[in-house]
Amino acid sequence: MISFNRPFLAAREREYLTEAAESGQTSGDGPFTRRATELLTGLVGSRAALLTTSCTHALELTALLLDLRPGDEVIMPSFTFVSTANAYVLRGAVPVFVDCRPDTLNIDERAVEAAITVRTKAIVVVHYGGVACEMDAIGKVAKHHGIPVVEDNAHGLGAAYRGRALGSLGAFATQSFHSTKNVQCGEGGALLINDERFAERAEILREKGTDRSRFFRGEVDKYRWMDVGSSYLPSDLLAAALTAQLEAFEVIQRQRHAVWDAYHSAFADLPWIRPTVPATCAHSAHLYYLLLPDLARRQALLRHLAERGVQATFHYQPLHNAPAGERFGRTGPGGCPVTEDIADRLVRLPLYAGMAAHEVEQVVTAVREFSG
Ligand SMILES: Cc1ncc(COP(=O)(O)O)c(C=O)c1O
Repeated sequence: MISFNRPFLAAREREYLTEAAESGQTSGDGPFTRRATELLTGLVGSRAALLTTSCTHALELTALLLDLRPGDEVIMPSFTFVSTANAYVLRGAVPVFVDCRPDTLNIDERAVEAAITVRTKAIVVVHYGGVACEMDAIGKVAKHHGIPVVEDNAHGLGAAYRGRALGSLGAFATQSFHSTKNVQCGEGGALLINDERFAERAEILREKGTDRSRFFRGEVDKYRWMDVGSSYLPSDLLAAALTAQLEAFEVIQRQRHAVWDAYHSAFADLPWIRPTVPATCAHSAHLYYLLLPDLARRQALLRHLAERGVQATFHYQPLHNAPAGERFGRTGPGGCPVTEDIADRLVRLPLYAGMAAHEVEQVVTAVREFSG
């Protein structure tokens, strides 16, 4: 069986995990947290970064930092993971779901503008598959209305838009280091902060609402309860694994791009739609998908691949018409017809660093044997 995903094990991961375990410093914000944070900011060029226990938690931090209140609205794509919405729903905010573009499957920038109201407090974009959203247009609309942009960059580490790293374009960006992501430590994430006004408060909110980080730096002689907050910092054990992964980033990306490129050229003559990467974007090889003509043929392809030992899968189910989406959110003008259509037609193929050439070949052969 060719698994859909196999978490990468970096060359120095065992060594760093042992070092962290034996150091006597396994709680958060230890030496490996500092190393991983430096590597991450070096990669993205964000002003600051705070490791978190997940991308979900980093998104929750953005909701707290933006002081969202019940009734505030947050514009986001319907075609995304539940955490993008839940983070704001937890504060009582209303997700306003907008459609995606039929080419990149990213949030439709024209729909964003149409969904803005006096209650809009944030625009959240998701760079699907690590292909950037139309950030010039979105940034212009956001600036015009004075609304901050949050990049849910769970897929986009290492990708760029017009030469600028994804994760450096919004007031905040959030990363995921879940085991399915390019860089992983099982469960993990980060909040990237590009608007310095939020940096000090972010540190406090992440540390249970205390100024413990300042205390550890020797800037205050005791730490106190300063604000709301929760426990969003990961153990230094996780940061040790993450450090090794980030050091191996180039290797990981080279291997993932090789698989992505192999699929892309092998399927060039097939009638099904392959991912679109606009000339303005350098993608992250996070995922590879095909769009079949309809749900029946998508399901048939998934069955066909499973019978040939290939674990393929569908992806996001629309949020706007999910039970919780209908309960907590609303749909922007024009609805989400593209999202409803493509969610039924999409097949994701196995893609991971370390995937052997013969495994890629087995997937390619199995897909090409499918007559639809
Ligand atoms: C776009 C997006 N945002 C957020 C998340 C949540 O990430 P995590 O599992 O690190 O909380 C995911 C998970 O796959 C995702 O795809």
